[in-house]
Amino acid sequence: MVQGIANWSTEQSREWLQSYVDDWVAFYRKHTGDGKVATYIPELAKANPDALGITIIGKNGLTVRSGEVDEPFTIQSISKVLSFIVACMERGVAYMLDRVDVEPTGEAFNSIMHLEMKQVKKPLNPFVNAGAITVTSTLNGRTSDEKIEPIFALLEKIIGYRPSLDIDVYESERDSSMRNRAIGYYLLETGYLESDMNTTLETYFKQCSIKVTVDDLARIGLILANDGEDIDTFEEIIPRPIARIAKALMLTCGMYDASGKFATYVGIPAKSGVSGGIIGAVPPRVREEVLPFMEGCGIGVYGPALDDNGNSVSGIRLLRHVASQWDLSIF
Ligand code: DON
Repeated sequence: MVQGIANWSTEQSREWLQSYVDDWVAFYRKHTGDGKVATYIPELAKANPDALGITIIGKNGLTVRSGEVDEPFTIQSISKVLSFIVACMERGVAYMLDRVDVEPTGEAFNSIMHLEMKQVKKPLNPFVNAGAITVTSTLNGRTSDEKIEPIFALLEKIIGYRPSLDIDVYESERDSSMRNRAIGYYLLETGYLESDMNTTLETYFKQCSIKVTVDDLARIGLILANDGEDIDTFEEIIPRPIARIAKALMLTCGMYDASGKFATYVGIPAKSGVSGGIIGAVPPRVREEVLPFMEGCGIGVYGPALDDNGNSVSGIRLLRHVASQWDLSIF
């Protein structure tokens, strides 16, 4: 484990941290061959399977970035964190938790097995597709553009610019996502959809197609790590209770049916997406020794080659290594 430095925020120690991360990215890039790029959305199949990038931004501004940090990719399921936050801000936490539960499923992200098997038809959490589509249906607005606007506005506040949609990925998912349409019909039958099904799905496909980089993901992670408060202006970007629920859900449900393993071996509230992105929110830790990023940090990772759970194969291994070397676990 890296330790023994009195102050990890000097330029010299930043250079050390940078050289560690450069080595780790070079090492774990060799693991990308153990995974496969998602193909069920045809447009995602075009991603470079060998890409691997990471950005870590500390609460004091200390930034380390390595690999494909400037390569844009679509946010995919990481958008479910943002739509849930926005829905809680619009409707209130109690209202939302009446409509989606907060329990892990142990099933694939697009499974509807639990909806059918349980007596209670409420989706198990906002990060499985059934829950995410339910959440999206509660967003204010009549059209998909009106519904998605507050997600763009929140992102703009966090990352400092208005991101764009990847229209090709959006159209590709819209035209191929039969499973999500099946989930939409199922939710229509059970009464959980609060908006017209086509508008809801259009909004969901759009939110998944927002273009980001690992820098953007690290900034989102940092805001969450800081309980929703901007580190420079101290403005409340996300109300603290909502930021905390989002982190609890990330820890318990953020990596789909690998969430338990990720919590055990990495120990960071995180959320993955099928394009290979992972967001991590590391709150301040209390330790006897002085460690890098002790005051908390946000992490963004990109590695489009996925494991069997639909999570970035080299991204998870890289994160696990960084977390163990710098003792980033919240436990
Ligand atoms: O619903 C879908 O299929 C995608 N647009 C989002 C899924 C996703 O990112 C799952 N991630 N592991």
